[in-house]
Amino acid sequence: MAKTHKHKKLYIKTWGCQMNVYDSNRMVDILSGLGYENVDTPDDADMIILNTCHIREKATEKVFSELGRLRPHKQAKEAKGGKMLVAVAGCVAQAEGDIIMDRAPYVDMVFGPQVYHELPEMVLKASGDERVVNTEFPTISKFDSLPKEHTIEGASAYLSVQEGCDKFCAFCVVPYTRGEEYSRSAVEIIEEARRLVDQGALEIILLGQNVNAYHGEGPDGKTWNLADIIHKISEIEGLERIRYSTSHPRDMDDDLIAVHGEIEMLQPFLHLPVQSGSDKILKAMNRKHTSDFYREIIAKLRKTRPDIAFSSDYIIGFPGETEEDFEASLQLARDVNYASCYSFKYSARPGTPAANLKEAMVPDHIASERLARFQALINEQQTAFNKSCEGKTLPVLFDRHGKKAGQLSGRSPYFQSVYVQGNERLLGNILPVKITQAFDNSLTGEIEIND
Ligand code: 5AD
Ligand code: SF4
Repeated sequence: MAKTHKHKKLYIKTWGCQMNVYDSNRMVDILSGLGYENVDTPDDADMIILNTCHIREKATEKVFSELGRLRPHKQAKEAKGGKMLVAVAGCVAQAEGDIIMDRAPYVDMVFGPQVYHELPEMVLKASGDERVVNTEFPTISKFDSLPKEHTIEGASAYLSVQEGCDKFCAFCVVPYTRGEEYSRSAVEIIEEARRLVDQGALEIILLGQNVNAYHGEGPDGKTWNLADIIHKISEIEGLERIRYSTSHPRDMDDDLIAVHGEIEMLQPFLHLPVQSGSDKILKAMNRKHTSDFYREIIAKLRKTRPDIAFSSDYIIGFPGETEEDFEASLQLARDVNYASCYSFKYSARPGTPAANLKEAMVPDHIASERLARFQALINEQQTAFNKSCEGKTLPVLFDRHGKKAGQLSGRSPYFQSVYVQGNERLLGNILPVKITQAFDNSLTGEIEIND
């Protein structure tokens, strides 16, 4: 293929989950074929893409305020006789495309997560001064038409194996913005994993909104599950770490639990959102499991892989949540004892069933107060977990510069950020680090030199 001369500047701002980071990388790949080169600032860019997330509150307002900030850049460029295409992609675009087009006349393109492979046509139309809205769910998969990946986020690479969700938790927009569940074929995934390792990836993070519901076509014609994928990928020469995210407790089947004991390179850390510890609230959330079911999964995983640590997501203040329900969430968190955990105040997302439960809404000051109590518990757990690492030697995958001069940053097996002083030539390696100090959100240490 002829080498494309890169002469146009592309600035992408990404919000939200790792799925969006993966999608942004794919957009960079597609647009590099059209001569666009990724840059770090919007100044003088030829195209700006906001890859948005709709999962929690104020998503749309954030997009509008960012668009407002970008507008002068576009005007400045046009005053010089240039052109700057402004695009809104991702889940806000999917959910509110027409509203964006109406309220922000300087936006040229709006498109949802399922149509990134159609970017070349959309760019062509927008370059001809046509405003493009594309929020259809196409019948062919975007994975079939995306170019092979070139962008690699250092030594740790994302690989999307599954997309969409059929679970319809009552609070969640994902089934509406990402569409129904779709699993890529195992062959495609294995080929992509091989390429990523060839390009220097030491770690692969298998991604999906419901990654452990994966059920794709295997090379043997049978349906493969996530455990099969992990087994196969672990055979790739040069790969050292595997992770997967995000999972649903209902899909933690026995095969997948067993893999945690069988495959050493599957890292001993699992993000397993539970959302609430109250069975009444779990039911109202349509989670289709109880808190004891979740406790059992955690216990089984600990038995299979004794050094495993957990993180989770909790929603605080879901409609109908009483003090007693909230205490059940605190109790579940105490029982599990997380290495880290995210908690969010419930926010009604338009179009979701829970958004109709207006009369049961928990008053905001009560939800805020509960959230603060929950986060105090989680901070305690996280700090204690980090402290328990002091004095230990952990393998750390270094994939970026730290904030301070001469500092490198990487991830421990438990996904903690670890900072050391070191030469940048060490980036892209897994090295043993003696942990000297633990903080609430990170660790510092020294690389151990083996003579
Ligand atoms: N309100 C608050 N938090 C939410 N999440 C998803 N939808 C909502 C909502 N409407 C949280 C869940 C999910 C995480 C990605 O975001 O905890 O696991
Ligand atoms: Fe949303 Fe529930 Fe699907 Fe997760 S499982 S993406 S919370 S609907």
